[in-house]
This record gives sequence, structure tokens and C-alpha cells, in this order.
Amino acid sequence: MSLSQSVHDASVMSPTDAISEFMNPGCQRLLDIGCGAGHLSDDLVSGRRTVVALDPFVVPGAPALRIQGDAAPLPVVDDIFDSVLFHWSLHHVPQDQMSLALSEAVRVLTQNGVLYVVEPEPIGSWHEVCQSFHDETAVQNSAAVEVDFLVERSAGRRRRAYYFYEDQFDNFDEWVTELMEMPHNNYCEKAVRSELVKDQFERCWETDKYVLRQRVRMDEIRWD
Ligand SMILES: C[S@@+](CC[C@H](N)C(=O)[O-])C[C@H]1O[C@@H](n2cnc3c(N)ncnc32)[C@H](O)[C@@H]1O
Repeated sequence: MSLSQSVHDASVMSPTDAISEFMNPGCQRLLDIGCGAGHLSDDLVSGRRTVVALDPFVVPGAPALRIQGDAAPLPVVDDIFDSVLFHWSLHHVPQDQMSLALSEAVRVLTQNGVLYVVEPEPIGSWHEVCQSFHDETAVQNSAAVEVDFLVERSAGRRRRAYYFYEDQFDNFDEWVTELMEMPHNNYCEKAVRSELVKDQFERCWETDKYVLRQRVRMDEIRWD
């Protein structure tokens, strides 16, 4: 499977495969903003590439270098990274800080640097199952608007691609357990276990598993 430039042909991929295919292979100094546990940051380290993984709730790990910090403002000097990535993190930045977070990302890029913004869209069964207790439509739309605004105001050149993220579960309890273990989530388990959520989850049965998918949009913005 490979990335699609059209929403209509998006296929299922793993996040690591998707970003690895999308990102310029020549990238040597990457800042991953909102890295979470940093697993993706670690996957993106290679012989030629160093990765700095930043998060307000950073956890120890390697080989990516972890730093604790916020996207807005970034605790990083100007013109230092040839690539900056927001991977499923821009919509988590408070809405009134998203514009500053993007400006900060541009500030720390070198002159020919490239910005990557990878964001889930409110499309797919993952969204439908979670909608009643945690609807991210508004924040995901805000993140999309802020990226559009950055491209317009800075006359950036954008390249875009799509894929579907997919998770498979044996039963409802397995899904709830995984959801409640994600450290950045603050869900009420009673709301997660509602009849409405269970009904939506049951609709995701496919052959021998429950399969949840979410469409993901990838933007590359450059100014060279
Ligand atoms: C859905 S997780 C994505 C984690 C990781 N990038 C990934 O794709 O697996 C969103 C992350 O954004 C981080 N985040 C929230 N607010 C932030 C902020 N103001 N600045 C930087 N990161 C932030 C959270 O701590 C969380 O780790």
C-alpha cells in the first residue's frame, strides 16, 4: 500500500510507514513536536538522521533525544532543524495557541527547512465510535484552518497525501482498556462504556475482528 493524493483512494497504512514514505529521505535534523511516548520519533532515527522529541509530558527513551517542552513557545533556538513534524499533535495544542505553535515551528526551521503536519480527520469508524464521549471535530477543523492560514500568509508550497489508520480488536473490553491506557486521554470510563458507544463499536465487526479506521491527512509545507 502507498499514500494517496486523493481522499477517495486512501488506503490503510501504519503511521510509521506513512510518514517514512511522505518525508524527504534527506531530512537529517528532525524536531517531533508533541511526540507522546516518542515511539514514532525513535522509529524515524536513522544512521543519517537525528530526532529531537518534544512533549509537555515527555517520558524517558531512546534513540530520539527527549526534551520536555511546549509547542508555543518552543524552548529551541532559531534556524536549527531541517524538518519539523507535528504528528497527531497540533489539534491537541490549545486552539488559541495553534497559530503561535506553527509560527514557532517555522522559526526553528533552517532556510530551506520543511514543515510536516499529520492530522487525523473526523472521518471513519474510529471517529464515529468516539464521537459521543470525545468529539474532536472542532479542534481537528481548527488545526486544518490554521495550517491553511499559514500556507496562505507565508506563501508556502504544500504537498498533501492521505491514508487510513487502522486498529483491530477482539472485543469491546480490549478496546476500552487500550483507550483508557493512553496517557494523554482523560476519558470517563462510564461514558466510554455507554450503550451508544457499544452499539457503534458492534458495527465495526469485519469477518473475525472489530476494525476501527480513521482518515489521516499529511501536509508538507516548504518555502524554498
Ligand atoms: C495523540 S498524541 C500524539 C503523540 C505522537 N505524536 C504520536 O503520533 O504517537 C498528542 C500529543 O500532543 C501533546 N501535546 C498536547 N499539547 C501540547 C502542546 N501545547 N505542545 C506540545 N505538545 C502537546 C500531548 O502531550 C500528546 O503527547
